[in-house]
Amino acid sequence: MTRDEILRWLTETDVARLEELWTLADAARKQHVGDAVHLRGLIEISNHCARQCGYCGIRAPHTGVKRYRLSADEIWGCVERAVEYGYGTVVMQSGEDWGIRAHWLAALIRRIKTETELAVTLSLGERHADELALWRAAGADRYLLRFETSDAELYGRIHPGTDGQPGRLDDRLARLRVLKELGYEAGSGVMIGIPGQSYQSLAADIALFRELDLDMIGVGPYLAHPATPIGRGEWVQPLADGEQVPATELMGYKVLALTRLVCPEANLPSTTALATLNYESGRELGLMRGANVIMPNLTPPEYRCLYEIYPAKACLQESEEDFHQAIRRRIESVGRTVGTGPGGRLTVKG
Ligand code: 5AD
Repeated sequence: MTRDEILRWLTETDVARLEELWTLADAARKQHVGDAVHLRGLIEISNHCARQCGYCGIRAPHTGVKRYRLSADEIWGCVERAVEYGYGTVVMQSGEDWGIRAHWLAALIRRIKTETELAVTLSLGERHADELALWRAAGADRYLLRFETSDAELYGRIHPGTDGQPGRLDDRLARLRVLKELGYEAGSGVMIGIPGQSYQSLAADIALFRELDLDMIGVGPYLAHPATPIGRGEWVQPLADGEQVPATELMGYKVLALTRLVCPEANLPSTTALATLNYESGRELGLMRGANVIMPNLTPPEYRCLYEIYPAKACLQESEEDFHQAIRRRIESVGRTVGTGPGGRLTVKG
């Protein structure tokens, strides 16, 4: 699919034609990754963050949020829950928290890999290459690091760097290359509808997914957080009507479906951001339009509300037990099966 074709689908409004897009994406999903929906237990291990991303509710300058960091015992409790529920993977995610010490985490990863069959995914921000290497050596399998937008100018405006300069897209992309060189399965992704994001730049994002040969890609609509500069309308402004990508549920499905067509073998989650916009059926619609992964939240309930990267995250409303009960039924209701085993890219290919 060419960049122009991607662009045409992004601006398509005809409902009947969009049905075609959903059908194409669903067929590609079935052909390349099958009917299994892989469950990855998400553990939000810390909401401390050194960065100042203009859209994110746990950004360092936001003093209105109580900060937490899970202990090794608390994380282990979540890991046991993942095993009990039959999940194949745990995803440990946090803000860019330098209080998470590299050796401390390496020991935890080693324990998970020796005592369970789980795959381990990390999503901890732009950590140093030697730390990424240490965690890989300890057994970590995958790493998620979204590039958020491929428009270097927009990237710089929404991500202040640690040196007072605008953050650099190239640094983020370089880190993704390091991850691949270290043998991680690498995941990335973008937000859809960031103020200032054009259709052309979103089409370029999708083309970059292909170029980077990503193993996992997470996409979701941007959701304004009122305690952030961009959520308050500062830093970046929406483009003119017809140029600005809307941060809608529909645009979320379009990007998901196009991502499946462009990267047919990748693992694509039906994201929480989609479920937040359509609590009733967002997850199912995601599964029907290209996704093959769901990430149930295993963070202990007393911390979950504190990991508020955007308001009213869908996972806040549901208990983990209820979610676990409901999720199999919901997966089967759309004619799919629950994946067994780690569900990595290689096991799919093999
Ligand atoms: N709206 C939507 N997605 C967000 N993220 C962070 N803040 C927001 C927001 N306000 C996404 C980013 C990040 C991921 C963990 O969550 O893409 O990489």
